[in-house]
Order: sequence, then C-alpha cells, then structure tokens
Amino acid sequence: MSYYSMTFPFLRNFTDQIMSSNINKDTKAIILYDSQSVGGSTDRLIDSIGRKLAETGAYVEKARCKANADYSFVKEFDLVVLGAPIYYLLVASELSGALSRSNLKRALKGKKIAMFVTCGSPEPMAQFLYLPQIKMHLDNPVILTEKVFSPDQASDPSAVADFVNDITAAFGKSC
Ligand SMILES: Cc1cc2nc3c(=O)[nH]c(=O)nc-3n(C[C@H](O)[C@H](O)[C@H](O)COP(=O)(O)O)c2cc1C
Repeated sequence: MSYYSMTFPFLRNFTDQIMSSNINKDTKAIILYDSQSVGGSTDRLIDSIGRKLAETGAYVEKARCKANADYSFVKEFDLVVLGAPIYYLLVASELSGALSRSNLKRALKGKKIAMFVTCGSPEPMAQFLYLPQIKMHLDNPVILTEKVFSPDQASDPSAVADFVNDITAAFGKSC
C-alpha cells in the first residue's frame, strides 16, 4: 500500500501513478492539478512533466485536486507544480476551489511553486487573464516558473522539457 492510499483516501485513484527516481530522493515534488477530462491534454501533460522531473532525480507524486480536500500533506513537499486547463475563461474549478476554500493556500505558504495552464487562448491573453487566477491565492510563494501550454504542446516533448528545465534551474538558484 502506498503512502498516499494510507493517509489521504481522496487520492486513492492515483496510487498506481506514483513516479520516482533514485538519483536524488532528497527533493520531493508534487503535481497538483485539475481537469474535467480523463486522458485529455492536462493528463498527458502532467504525466510527461512528472516523468521528466523524476529523471532529474526528484521523487515525484501527482494528485488531482478536490476543492474541499485536506492539503496539509503538501507541507512535506519541497516543490509544488500547480496546473489546470481553462474552461470558459476560468481555471478549472477543483483547483481554483481548493485554492480559495481549502487549507491548500496555507499549505503552500512560502513553497517553491511552478505553475501552468493549458488553454486554447494566445499566450499573452493567458498570461494576463488566467495565470493570475492561480497566483492571486498564493501567500509569499517562490514562483520558479510559469507556463501556458496550448493543447498541442501538451504532447510536445520539447515544450515539456523546457518547462522542467526552467523549474530545475530556478529551484537550484532558490536553494
Ligand atoms: C468546455 C470548454 C471550454 C473552454 N474554454 C476555454 C476558454 O475560455 N479559454 C481558453 O483559452 N481555452 C478554453 N478551452 C480550451 C481548453 O482549455 C484546452 O483545450 C485544454 O487543453 C483542455 O484541457 P483538458 O484536455 O485537460 O480538458 C475550453 C475547452 C473546453 C472543452
């Protein structure tokens, strides 16, 4: 039984998707994400990000957000990746709900955070309209990098590699 299935029942569906690496187990990363679709662009993207992060040596887990879950476990992680698609101009509701209504905001205080949105809008619009919907909830974060992925880029290894390289470079500098 995995750590999460024992401690955080709401994450039970994801215990078979834990990704890890033996290179540097000192760094614990979690990808907190949301999507209305299963197997859609965000699912593909977070799997690619998780695998790429694990290649750097980090221990990586992922969890699909629920608006009213208990996020106290997030305090155990050194690096948090937040990501969600945009539906009708808004960040997907379980992630935005978790940020505004649960203890996730408190758990993220002072954390090293990378964030992304997946959306069909042009990047400048997404930078202006969508990413702030995540950032406005963060309390004293260290934002490592932020990225707008188009649905096509969700399957683009080089776009994912660039994002993860930005994360690892900024993480190293912030230590
Ligand atoms: C119902 C619906 C509403 C959407 N609304 C927007 C929007 O307002 N702005 C935008 O940039 N993209 C919008 N999109 C595009 C999605 O953000 C994009 O396709 C995303 O990659 C979907 O992620 P998913 O495959 O994980 O569901 C919308 C997509 C759907 C299906």
